[in-house]
Amino acid sequence: MSKNFKRTNVTTALPYVNGPVHIGHLAGVYVPADIYVRYLRLKNEEVVFIGGSDEHGIPITLKASKEGVTPQDIVDRYHEIIKKSFEDFGISFDIYSRTSSKIHHAMASDFFKKLYDKGEFIEQTSEQYYDEEAKQFLADRYITGTCPHCQSEGAYGDQCEKCGTSLSPTDLINPKSEISGSKPVMRETKHWYLPLDKHENWLREWILENHKEWKTNVYGQCKSWLDMGLQPRAVSRDLNWGVPVPLPNAEGKVLYVWFDAPIGYISNTKELCDNQNDKFGTWEKWWKDEDTRLVHFIGKDNIVFHCIVFPAMLKAEGSYILPDNVPANEFLNLEGKKISTSKNWAVWLHEYLVDFPDKQDVLRYVLTANAPETKDNDFTWKDFQQRNNSELVAIYGNFVNRTLVLTQKYFGGKVPERAELTDYDKEVLNEIVNLKSKIVNLLDTFHFREALKEAMNLARIGNKYLADTEPWKLAKDKANMQRIGTILNVALQLCANLSIAFEPFLPFSSGKLRGMLNM
Ligand code: MF3
Ligand code: ZN
Repeated sequence: MSKNFKRTNVTTALPYVNGPVHIGHLAGVYVPADIYVRYLRLKNEEVVFIGGSDEHGIPITLKASKEGVTPQDIVDRYHEIIKKSFEDFGISFDIYSRTSSKIHHAMASDFFKKLYDKGEFIEQTSEQYYDEEAKQFLADRYITGTCPHCQSEGAYGDQCEKCGTSLSPTDLINPKSEISGSKPVMRETKHWYLPLDKHENWLREWILENHKEWKTNVYGQCKSWLDMGLQPRAVSRDLNWGVPVPLPNAEGKVLYVWFDAPIGYISNTKELCDNQNDKFGTWEKWWKDEDTRLVHFIGKDNIVFHCIVFPAMLKAEGSYILPDNVPANEFLNLEGKKISTSKNWAVWLHEYLVDFPDKQDVLRYVLTANAPETKDNDFTWKDFQQRNNSELVAIYGNFVNRTLVLTQKYFGGKVPERAELTDYDKEVLNEIVNLKSKIVNLLDTFHFREALKEAMNLARIGNKYLADTEPWKLAKDKANMQRIGTILNVALQLCANLSIAFEPFLPFSSGKLRGMLNM
């Protein structure tokens, strides 16, 4: 952390577009990233904010085959819904693109080719389940059978959902193809592997020695992966949906989704830079310049890919920078149960806005106040109501409202002159400076919940100030007008600072407040 970077490249996990996005996505990844980016922009720092849809992979082909439509139909549908949800919630991406784009296919394909040409892969043949009727190899999720542990039917090739055991397809008793229903057979197939074991040494040093400042949940997961020892990982799959492997004799093979998706960050940066005549400069500046700080916002299930696999890919390529930080969050549960797209247990963002039109900031507030930064947390509607009523309305809203109403009433809406300050006034104004430095420290270290709490303290201080100075009482005597003017001037300073402190967290409200203050 000693390095002084010139600019920051902030990426957010590309969500699978096999369904809409929900509060868990927002709380874990997109709201914290947006807070961070808005904060950097407030400081006039050079920053780029990259998002996009992850449109390949088994979750999407599965959803398509369940609905009897093509994968392209599925990704087209949800890409639009998700993109709109992010816009609606003020997630201020510089670009939100998609991995089915031409630019991405070319970028991912070239990336693979470069590693291939450098001899960074190993080729290996293995036996995998093949569906002779459907004439295709079967991904783990496409094979079901009896669980060898609990004997229940319908366990998947990668996991039994009844007893939770993780499985490999050959563990299943009486395996069956989910595509044709036939019994799969073993067949040889060739794939390319990234030999992570060869990268283990520098990864150990880079993470365990040089990035001790990473969040403990992230550092801990990395350490346990590294301590178990790394294995080569296949970077291709037998599938007809994805980026084709750019080699002769590789028909029916695509890049593994976890190989192509993170390259999507790069492709989307390129698309942005290509289209924005110079507002952002070249894409290489954001990916190949040591003065650029790369930060990945993700959920905890993505840690190994962003801290180990993707860095190994970047290092193998040779010309890229590595992430400086990966502030991953834990999970948000909903009313005590794990959020699940497939089980339809979620608060969907587009539905929330139907029930609570224009209340984006309320949700942003609750999800930040209760963010799963260090452990899994629970979202409940009771807590939502409570935080809205007793924090947003009773503290923030109440202070702003009183200050503006009193200013209107006694000074016709003009900011009154400030006369001599009392010690108390000075103390309050000093608190603004103190809180600012606290908030800045917390934001710099990704402690967004705490930062929000401190921002709210500004409004608390304001309420106490008005309660202590009681300008409405002083107003009974005309001789006090000058003193009232000073009090309201101080209170208005607090409001102005409130609109800045809250801009990263509650951008809609801050915009309104700036409008009311004519800032
Ligand atoms: N689609 C993955 C998920 O939802 C995240 C991909 S992040 C990226 O878990 F790095 F691959 F882009
Ligand atoms: Zn089982």
